[in-house]
Amino acid sequence: MIDVFQSLARRGLFLLDPEAAHGLSIKGLKTGLVPACAAPADPRLAQTVAGLAFANPIGLAAGYDKNAEVPEALLRLGFGFTEIGTVTPKPQAGNDKPRIFRLVEDEAVINRLGFNNEGHQAALQRLKACDRKAMIGVNIGANKDSADRIADYVTGIRTFYGVARYFTANISSPNTPGLRDLQARESLAALLSAVLAARDDEARKAGIRVPVFLKIAPDLTEEGMDDIAAVALAHHLDGLIVSNTTLSRDGLRDQRQAKESGGLSGKPLFEKSTIVLAKMRKRVGPNLPIIGVGGVSSAETAAEKIRAGANLVQLYSCMVYEGPLLPGKIVRGLSALCDREALTSISDIRGSRTDYWASKA
Ligand SMILES: Cc1cc2nc3c(=O)[nH]c(=O)nc-3n(C[C@H](O)[C@H](O)[C@H](O)COP(=O)(O)O)c2cc1C
Repeated sequence: MIDVFQSLARRGLFLLDPEAAHGLSIKGLKTGLVPACAAPADPRLAQTVAGLAFANPIGLAAGYDKNAEVPEALLRLGFGFTEIGTVTPKPQAGNDKPRIFRLVEDEAVINRLGFNNEGHQAALQRLKACDRKAMIGVNIGANKDSADRIADYVTGIRTFYGVARYFTANISSPNTPGLRDLQARESLAALLSAVLAARDDEARKAGIRVPVFLKIAPDLTEEGMDDIAAVALAHHLDGLIVSNTTLSRDGLRDQRQAKESGGLSGKPLFEKSTIVLAKMRKRVGPNLPIIGVGGVSSAETAAEKIRAGANLVQLYSCMVYEGPLLPGKIVRGLSALCDREALTSISDIRGSRTDYWASKA
């Protein structure tokens, strides 16, 4: 019955422009129209990563709930964690519409939103009303017209320190001109010095150390990956999120939409982002937490991210195609995998296929 409801809802939403459909889905979550459908808790899926206890390894990636409107409703869908943002200090409108495109045949999305968001204060007020124990991360960025981008990230850390369970410094959106340049060795070292010093200062005051993750692009060269790994380890970063959307248009069926500029996500990103994940795992060693993102659509693809070396997994685009039951379905599927392979923890498969993925071109 729920499946029938879901397929009707999807058909209805797909008649709308993608951004209007997104707005409607947020409204549905706000009003409780979308049913809560979490899978039963399974201790084999619980993970402690960067000092945080996650009920399961499946999270919602940044960009869906940019303004922290529905984080607790999203957790009720069965996600083990959710990430709000990207938020910037000042509100900003983003790029002109249309700026989100569905590539239905490819089960993909292209977006060039450009960090449209209501700014720090709007998100902060909403997060203050949430349960402090809810596993909500805050993804921070810089305003397009900022004179000092690093200062914008530092402001993000200081503003959200009391309400974020973790931070993500997003330096990999392709839709803010020049942002990805922060991934270069020297710029990244300057960014991480400032961001982690602000975190350490807030941690002293609050008596709680909130982990900071760095979200990187899938379009890095081997040297680019070397630089990020070296700087991340030297600065004792808490983890990496691999990856953001890609500029590549390889292998797409929908050639008409493929011409739209912006970042591509969804199924066609799976392979590319999993290769970069494994290559980063090889570079940083077994201990640095990595969250694998890109094209996750099922329990099998989520498990493959873990086999490639991920501690946790996030998804966004495939939920556009599969609907709100997807996180619960994936979590149940991971429990079934633990049964089939007689695992005491899903982390037992972590890294078992890092070499395979890292050796792919
Ligand atoms: C419409 C849309 C908006 C996004 N906005 C953000 C964002 O604000 N910040 C961010 O770090 N990533 C953003 N992303 C990237 C996702 O978090 C994720 O890294 C990427 O889409 C790959 O995962 P997926 O294939 O499961 O979607 C966005 C993705 C989409 C599709």
